[in-house]
Amino acid sequence: LRHLLTVEGLSRELLTEILDNAESFANMNEKAVKKVPLLRGKTVVNLFFEASTRTRTTFELAAKRLSADVLNINVSTSAAVKGESLLDTLRNLEAMNVDMFVVRHQQSGAAHFMARHVEPGISVLNAGDGRHAHPTQALLDMFTIRRFKGDFTRLKVAIVGDILHSRVARSQIHALNILQTGEVRVVAPRSLLPAHVADLGVHVFHNLEQGLRDVDVVIMLRLQRERMEHAHLPSEHEYFQLFGLTRRRLHLATPGCLVMHPGPANRGVEIDSAVADGAQSVILQQVTFGIAVRMAVMSMVMGVRSA
Ligand code: CP
Repeated sequence: LRHLLTVEGLSRELLTEILDNAESFANMNEKAVKKVPLLRGKTVVNLFFEASTRTRTTFELAAKRLSADVLNINVSTSAAVKGESLLDTLRNLEAMNVDMFVVRHQQSGAAHFMARHVEPGISVLNAGDGRHAHPTQALLDMFTIRRFKGDFTRLKVAIVGDILHSRVARSQIHALNILQTGEVRVVAPRSLLPAHVADLGVHVFHNLEQGLRDVDVVIMLRLQRERMEHAHLPSEHEYFQLFGLTRRRLHLATPGCLVMHPGPANRGVEIDSAVADGAQSVILQQVTFGIAVRMAVMSMVMGVRSA
């Protein structure tokens, strides 16, 4: 593994190996072992052209727990605002002898572009590109599901909300199918589903009550208003009436159904606070596991295997 740009096309073996490595880092984090020297002497650049709370900070923490040096480039105060191209930004950071770029960009394909242009020996990790992919989010989601539910082949998983604009949903669907999940459902109004979505290997529902019936895991997604140009949007109130996850609706799923959300969550739009903060929610555990999963990916692309 040199770069991590997408989960699409990864083998089940490699995906499982990443989760297994993450397990050892999660155990380390749970034992409050704060640091290992696996990436001592390496420099990681966090290059975020889009806002982030969870991904940027957990990548930073993961790098620091591996003893790497971390540069956080705040694009709003970088020369990118003066018109410097992505390639020139890359070349200048490379001149500082860095080892890894973690990049989030509003353009689909930005991480692939960087991976094509970096010098040999430098790795690129995609922290979310446009609508395309968010591979470490999908990996931490798979880690969370495996931790709480075990074998994917017996599970029914529903992804609910704005599938059309969601790089998270795309990466989750690929990861769930690679792991041979029993059934993957998407639940959304027609206007928030990509054309030919069923070709991705999912069952499509337009009614939340039907889509939730007997699922073991429900993953809620927010409306990505910043990526909506022409879509006809329902009001937030209307959306909540039809697609908001409430306690009453959650009862249609299996009794131990996990409630997940990659964040940021919009309470009262796609999820009720009683559910987001309820006993079945693992939303904050997802964030915690994100550190271990990112430690695993960073160490693997640098050729160091586990804790
Ligand atoms: N899930 C996720 O990507 O969150 P952030 O935008 O806060 O990084």
